Amino acid sequence: MEPKLVEAPQLPEKVFTTEKVGISRKTHEEHLKLWQGYANKTDEIRKALAEIDTDPAKANQIYSQMRALKVNYAFAYGGYINHSVYFDTMGGSGGKASGDVAALIDEAFGSFDRWAADWKATGIAGRGWAYLGYSPDEQRVFTFIGDSQDTFPAWNNHLLLAMDVYEHAYYLDFQTARAKYIDAYMQVIDWDAVNRRLARAR
Ligand SMILES: [Fe+2]
Repeated sequence: MEPKLVEAPQLPEKVFTTEKVGISRKTHEEHLKLWQGYANKTDEIRKALAEIDTDPAKANQIYSQMRALKVNYAFAYGGYINHSVYFDTMGGSGGKASGDVAALIDEAFGSFDRWAADWKATGIAGRGWAYLGYSPDEQRVFTFIGDSQDTFPAWNNHLLLAMDVYEHAYYLDFQTARAKYIDAYMQVIDWDAVNRRLARAR
């Protein structure tokens, strides 16, 4: 059976408005190539899994084709999704959260400023990502650290906002000054897009 393939990555035009805060077009154009790499490898692994010999005798936890494909799938698909959300929720007017997500942030963190400080610190404490997750079970948001494309989200959390803090997201514009990049990023969060994601999750 032919596996379903992912939608080809495309940068929404709005992301280029981040130039006004110093996150350049060139950064996004280079970043798109990485996102495409995650999409291509996701598809490649889906095709390989569609054809793999599923004989349990051939599976092995130290090394086997099944293990290699499944472990790398989480990295490839994770990278694809993380970047989809990053670019979907960027290129807005930033500032304070609006709409339903603002109420959830207030409920979980006490105030927007408290959340903003937590978000920035989470982004500095992470090796690759900061995630805002929404749990329909608890009807609550939480900011997760992502060290890699496949760590550390938790089950049943919907990804509302994803901030890439790998150096490729900012080195060209800010060199090693990650905190400055995060400050710039927070001025261009698209809260309308975040609220649309929340509505879908609910
Ligand atoms: Fe990235």
